[in-house]
Amino acid sequence: MAIFKPKEAPVQVDFDHLPRHIAIIMDGNGRWAKRRGLPRTAGHAAGAETFRTIATYCQKIGLEYLTVYAFSTENWKRPLEEVSAIIGLLKKYLLESIEKMEKDKIRLHFFGDLDALPPELRELTVRTDDISTRYEGMQVNVCFNYGGRDEIVRAARAFAADCAAGKRRPEALTEEDFSGYLYSAGVPDPDLVIRPSGEIRISNFLLWQSAYAEFYYTDVLWPDFSKEELHKAIAAYQGRSRRFGGV
Ligand code: FPP
Repeated sequence: MAIFKPKEAPVQVDFDHLPRHIAIIMDGNGRWAKRRGLPRTAGHAAGAETFRTIATYCQKIGLEYLTVYAFSTENWKRPLEEVSAIIGLLKKYLLESIEKMEKDKIRLHFFGDLDALPPELRELTVRTDDISTRYEGMQVNVCFNYGGRDEIVRAARAFAADCAAGKRRPEALTEEDFSGYLYSAGVPDPDLVIRPSGEIRISNFLLWQSAYAEFYYTDVLWPDFSKEELHKAIAAYQGRSRRFGGV
């Protein structure tokens, strides 16, 4: 049973049968800012606000897992000012989360190569990860310095190292075993992947994990993405027939 059902929710959302895991590509921050004559960094600040609102709401309606794409392995190509702003927003979010975790019970986890982060931020990710183990609320996975191909290559290297160490046999590897080498080890695959901003591509996001995910695209830019937009995405998902390759 859903823990909270909004009164104003559209009738087509069945809050008792939500997807377990929603993943979001938070796209369109730059265009949102440009349309307002603002710097791109203002778009990211607005996007971070939307992320807070949506994450809080997902926790409230009883979602189990929310994964967001915050910074890709390719995003380092952006101007230094923009990269610094995104890193600053993550830091701000982590500091706030540490304050609120006891009340929110949201568990924070990270997918990506965090070694490339400034040491202070790296330390904050370790702290939030540690504190999260005390709680049992929704798990939010923040993909930072994340790339789907990079994740698969790292997993392959780790598996090869285990084989070389005699802990594993290549011929015995199953898909399930391999999943255990990914950043997402232990997390169920996303049921629904949402991409706002009108782009219809995967952009190196959860390549392995989204094999059977349902996709939802909307022209709405991420900073304008609202609870109503989330309802529409969930309703669209609930209207699909998932066959996982069967009939
Ligand atoms: C894509 O929009 C967005 C990003 C690369 C950054 C997303 C970051 C945040 C929402 C804030 C930090 C995250 C957290 C978890 C606090 P874009 O810049 O590519 O937009 P455009 O396609 O319109 O240019």
